[in-house]
Amino acid sequence: MSGGIEINKIAGAVLLAGVVAMVSGLMSEALYTGSISEKDDKDAKRGYTIAGAENAGAAGEAGAPKDEKPVDIMTLLAKADVKAGEGVSKKCTSCHTFDKGGKNGVGPNQWDLVGGHFAHKDDYAYSAAVSAMKEKKWGFQELSEFLTNPKKYIPGDKMSFAGISNPQDRANLIAYLNTLNDKPLPLPK
Ligand code: HEC
Repeated sequence: MSGGIEINKIAGAVLLAGVVAMVSGLMSEALYTGSISEKDDKDAKRGYTIAGAENAGAAGEAGAPKDEKPVDIMTLLAKADVKAGEGVSKKCTSCHTFDKGGKNGVGPNQWDLVGGHFAHKDDYAYSAAVSAMKEKKWGFQELSEFLTNPKKYIPGDKMSFAGISNPQDRANLIAYLNTLNDKPLPLPK
């Protein structure tokens, strides 16, 4: 009976089509889920990168001097090298200008800083933390402690700078900063 065979063929074809549809349905679902998990993966990676950056920041802070005792900067200032200090000051110039009458940048211009009061520039918008300390003056010791770890010395300070761990580098820098002044303070002998 050829008719029966024909029907079987048709039935078979329909069945096959069904199977194909099912399989391709599964496959596209698989692809879909595949792409979702890939996205999750990307998100996960992004999360990881951010965590990594935070870790790097933490490591950077850990790399900064921690609970180093304030050193007596005076002895180091007595043998300070102003020229070397000018070299160290390159760490500051992305945010500070040093010339007399220079523009404030991210941070305030530094002319007349040494011996001046905290928040020494009237035309700069300091953080509340620094503004609140206006009655203090930037002597050598204050600068040394601040530059060792700015955020530790003035919690709430908005200067994003880890600090200078080497005490002689700090002394050299401070000796240089002291030259950027109408009336430089006498350095210890
Ligand atoms: C990433 C930018 C940045 C860098 C780099 C930077 N500073 Fe600052 N600095 C600031 C900002 C911003 C302030 C203002 C802080 C506030 O108001 O909390 C500031 C404030 C200061 C103050 C206080 C000024 C005042 O009038 O009381 C001193 C001192 C200072 N910086 C010194 C330095 C020195 C020295 C270096 C280099 C070793 C340096 N900074 C590097 C951004 C920076």
